Amino acid sequence: MQTQIITWDTSEGYKPDELEKAADILKSGGLVAFPTETVYGLGCSGFDEDAAKKVYEAKGRPSDNPLILHIADREMLDDIAVEVSDAAKKLMDTFWPGPMTLVFLKNDKVPSTVTGGLNTVAVRMPAHAGALDLIRAAGMPIAAPSANRSGRPSPTEAAHVIEDLDTHVDMIIDGGSVGIGYESTILDMTALRPVILRPGFITAQMIEDVIGGAGDDGIPEYSSVSGDQSPKAPGMKYRHYAPEAELTVVRGDDSQVCSKINELVRQFPSDKTGILTCDERIDLYDYGVVLSIGSEKDNTLGQSMYGALRKFDSLGVTRIYAETFFGTEHEDALMNRLMKAAGGQVIDLEDYDKLIFVCKENVTISPMAEWIMRSIVMDRSIEICSRGLVVLFSEPINQKVINVLSAHSVPCEELSSRLLRDEDIDEHTLVITMAFTEKVKLIENYKLKEHVYTLKEFVGLEDDVYDPYGGDDAAYENLYTELKDLLYKLKKRLGWQ
Ligand code: TXA
Ligand code: MG
Repeated sequence: MQTQIITWDTSEGYKPDELEKAADILKSGGLVAFPTETVYGLGCSGFDEDAAKKVYEAKGRPSDNPLILHIADREMLDDIAVEVSDAAKKLMDTFWPGPMTLVFLKNDKVPSTVTGGLNTVAVRMPAHAGALDLIRAAGMPIAAPSANRSGRPSPTEAAHVIEDLDTHVDMIIDGGSVGIGYESTILDMTALRPVILRPGFITAQMIEDVIGGAGDDGIPEYSSVSGDQSPKAPGMKYRHYAPEAELTVVRGDDSQVCSKINELVRQFPSDKTGILTCDERIDLYDYGVVLSIGSEKDNTLGQSMYGALRKFDSLGVTRIYAETFFGTEHEDALMNRLMKAAGGQVIDLEDYDKLIFVCKENVTISPMAEWIMRSIVMDRSIEICSRGLVVLFSEPINQKVINVLSAHSVPCEELSSRLLRDEDIDEHTLVITMAFTEKVKLIENYKLKEHVYTLKEFVGLEDDVYDPYGGDDAAYENLYTELKDLLYKLKKRLGWQ
C-alpha cells in the first residue's frame, strides 16, 4: 500500500482540502495516523468493524486489546457510552480536552471488535487542535491506539510512525513533535470507586483533587491484575514500549545512581552503550551515548523518552542504563513506562538491612515467602521476617505450608502469625506485599511513603501472588514454585548474596 504523508504545520493552520482528504479516508474505512498531545494515534472509524480489524493487523496487535475512541465534543459521548456518573462529568469538565481516558459501559452502537470484546469502552477528547479538527471533519468518534507496531515505543513524532507503519496505512499526518510524550491516564469509571488502569500525565492527586469524596475516601485506586481474571486494561499485560537494546533501570539516590551508571558503562564499548537521563543531569556523564528524556523543571519530563529509546536502537546501542525519576510529579507514569521497557530489569542501590513480607493474616503466603527467602539469602546481616495486616490473635502457620516447605527441605521455625506494627519498619526496611490491596493498606493505614512494593511489582511483573486458599496440596506446591521463582528474582534485583 502506498502511504500518503502530509505535513500539517500548526503555525500555518490546517489546509481544508487535506483535512477533507484525511476525513474521507476515515469515513471510507481507511487508516490515518495523526498527532495528539500525548503520542501519535492510528485512527479509523469508531463504528467500522472492518476498519478496526485493519488497525489490529497494521499494528500486529492482539485482538483482545481494545482501542480508545477519540471524540471532539460531549455529544459524541452520548453515542458511545452509557451510565456516565457525576464524578465522570466533573473529571471531563476539568481535564477534557486533555490526556485523560475514561472507561464507561458501552453503547450497542460500538462494535465489539473496537472494544476487544469488552462491554465497556474507553473514551478520550484529545487536547490537540489538529486531532479535534480531524474528528469533527470525519463526523464520528475515531478509534485510535498509539501508532506504533505492537510492543515498540509509542511514536512521539511522525518519523517514528513512518518507521513502524509506512506502507501499512493510508495516510500519516506529520504534525511535528507531541507535547507530553507518553500515553493518557486511563481511569475506569464503571467501578464504585474510580480505578487508574494506566498512570499518565493526569496524576492520582489531580484526580483526587477533583472528585475527592467519591467512593470510600475519594483516592483513586491503582488497578492490579489478579489471578486468571483478565486485566482491566488488557493492554497493560503485554510487554511494551521496549527498545531492541537491553535496558536496565538503576534505582537509588540521584548521586549514587550517577556514579553507578558511570562505573557500569565503562565496562562496555562507548558507542554500544547508552545512558538515559534528564536535561538537568546530562552533563554528569562523559562516556557512552547519553540522551535525555526532557526536563524535570517544566513538566516536559518524559517528552523525549520514547524518542530516545528509538534513537538508541537506530545508533546501534545494545545496552542502555536508565536513571529513575522518582520524586517528580509524573513519576508514576514515567516509571511505569520505563519499567515496562526494561522488562523489570533493575539494579537497586538502596541499602536495605531488613526485609518484611506482608500478607493479610500471616499464616500462609508471607510466612512461606519468609522461609524460602531465608533459605536462599546467605548474607546473615539482613533481617528477614513476615507479618500480617489482620492478626487479632496469633495463630499457627498453615500446616500445608509447613508440609510443602519440609518436602523441599526448607527449614521453618517460627510457627505463629504476628501483626505488623509501626516499629517493625524503619527507613532501611523493604516491605514486600503479596497482593496489591495489601500495599494500598500499608500506604493508607501505616502511612508508608516509600520502600513498599508488591512482590511481583518489585521484580517487574504485574499481578498478585497466587493465593492457594481452599486448594489441595497441589495448590500449595504451586505457591511454593511461584514464590521460589519470584524470590530468586527479588534476590537478584537487590544484588544480595
Ligand atoms: O494517549 C493515548 O491514550 C494514546 C493516544 C493515541 O490517544 N492512545 C493509546 O492507545 O495509548 P493504546 O491503544 O496504545 O492504549 C490503549 C489502552 C490499552 O492498554 C487498552 O487495553 C486500554 O487502553 N483500553 C482500551 N479500551 C479499554 C476498556 N474498555 N477497558 C479497559 N481498558 C481499555
Ligand atoms: Mg499503545
